[in-house]
Amino acid sequence: MNDSGDDNSQGIIGNGFPPVLKMYAYDPGGLDGSLAHLLSAGIGISVTVVEARDGGHPLVIQAKSDPDRVHTEPVNDSASVRQALALPAGGIAVWSSPVDQAERIARHAMTLLDLEIARNDSKQLLAEVESLTNQVMQDFEELSLIRTLASSLELPQTAEDTDDFVLASLMPLVSGVGAVSIAAVLVEDSGDHKRRPLWTGPQVVGDEVIFDLIDDHAEELMQQPIVRNRNVGDGHCGAEGLEEYVMVECSSEGRLHGWVMACNRLQDDIDDVPWAQLGFTTVQASLMETATNQLAAQLNNIRLLRQKEELFTDVIRALVNAVEARDPYTCGHSERVASFARCLASKIGFTVAECERIYLTGLLHDVGKIAIPDGVLQKPNRLNEEERAIIETHTDSGWRILQELEALQDILPGVLYHHEHWNGKGYPDRLAGDNIPIDGRILAVCDAFDAMTSDRPYRKGMSIDRAITILNEGAGEYWDPNLIHVFSQHIDEIDEIRINHQPRQPAARPAPVNGLPIIGIPGFSVTGNMPSGSTSAQ
Ligand SMILES: [Fe+2]
Repeated sequence: MNDSGDDNSQGIIGNGFPPVLKMYAYDPGGLDGSLAHLLSAGIGISVTVVEARDGGHPLVIQAKSDPDRVHTEPVNDSASVRQALALPAGGIAVWSSPVDQAERIARHAMTLLDLEIARNDSKQLLAEVESLTNQVMQDFEELSLIRTLASSLELPQTAEDTDDFVLASLMPLVSGVGAVSIAAVLVEDSGDHKRRPLWTGPQVVGDEVIFDLIDDHAEELMQQPIVRNRNVGDGHCGAEGLEEYVMVECSSEGRLHGWVMACNRLQDDIDDVPWAQLGFTTVQASLMETATNQLAAQLNNIRLLRQKEELFTDVIRALVNAVEARDPYTCGHSERVASFARCLASKIGFTVAECERIYLTGLLHDVGKIAIPDGVLQKPNRLNEEERAIIETHTDSGWRILQELEALQDILPGVLYHHEHWNGKGYPDRLAGDNIPIDGRILAVCDAFDAMTSDRPYRKGMSIDRAITILNEGAGEYWDPNLIHVFSQHIDEIDEIRINHQPRQPAARPAPVNGLPIIGIPGFSVTGNMPSGSTSAQ
């Protein structure tokens, strides 16, 4: 603060001015008005403020109040004073005659100045603390929101659950930003990329309004969130019912999932939050961006998960096709058994995930038949004892084929034990009653029902009534009596599945076009066999 370099120096300025003491040079920074008042009240002198040459705020103190003790000199020409004093920015000069009076006044003035500066520093410090406090509170709100979001995010099991997942993800954001409602406009992953709006609360404007806003701001939203407030002068929403909004693009890794929009500030919320004000601010925009980024990442995960599941299911189907291609007359058997089993499992209280497990098991329950010789597998007549022993190895073969696949561990019990009998006379391990894994018991019922009701080259499929009669006669001997009871109760639903089942027809291979293969191979052009980028034949 003391940088004048010539503190307490005494000198005479021209034009009849009294001796001058140049005092501390510092920058009171905007205190001039209040400081003049302070000095007037504090030491009983009047103060004239003149500008410094470099635009600072030096104070020229002119002692007037006690003419007996302090010689006063009116400052009529502040420009001359300014020039004569040659004060640095924020300098203070006190002049009087005799000089000791000036020294006394100057010391007093400097004490007051120091106090004022300290008070000003405290005010700035307090403002900074308040600003930091608000920032910390906002950060805390943001972290709380992220934590709430993270704890509520469980990836949906099916595509149909995605809407519920998105809405559940956005619900914490409603209170987080203090919005009346939040809209998510999702872009359909396939087809024509149709936009699908979802609302966490009341729909405050029509879908078309939201779509128009997205179209208007799409490019800007690629860069940053937008905030529009009708009543606070930074934009007009232009739609009845939409007072203010924040809109954020929901994208991840270059893939656009949609947009999220907070509509209308919840008025009740404004009184509760110290930094809240009418309309939305960058604070809410930041929260929206954070939550939406998290949602976008999760939607990306869901998409990747679905792709993997589809690939997995396709591979399973290919495996099933490989088995059924050996015996065209059993075409569709695995899918029908899988569908019956899923239905029966749901009737006995299996969860959605458990039902999907039993469906998958049904698809693969006979995969071991791939190891059975054609002569045995396709024999139309009754099998002899040796052939029966061979066919009975298909449960073990199925287990061996699948047991190394980590993702299929859950289906091994059903594959291995779907030919066990309730009375303990089945195969491969002669398990009995409740010792037979439930998946095996379910599949045993469904497998038998489909075998009885399907047409074979050597016989016509039997009627549903006849099949149910046989199943009930064998309950407690071959099959779990409780399952037979439930199966019989829902036979109409099971039969509907059977009637509506359409065996998958293998796709016909497309013919070459103009003598060229029509299937593109990665790294190769579609119209030739040269690797793309290659310039000469090898
Ligand atoms: Fe089987």
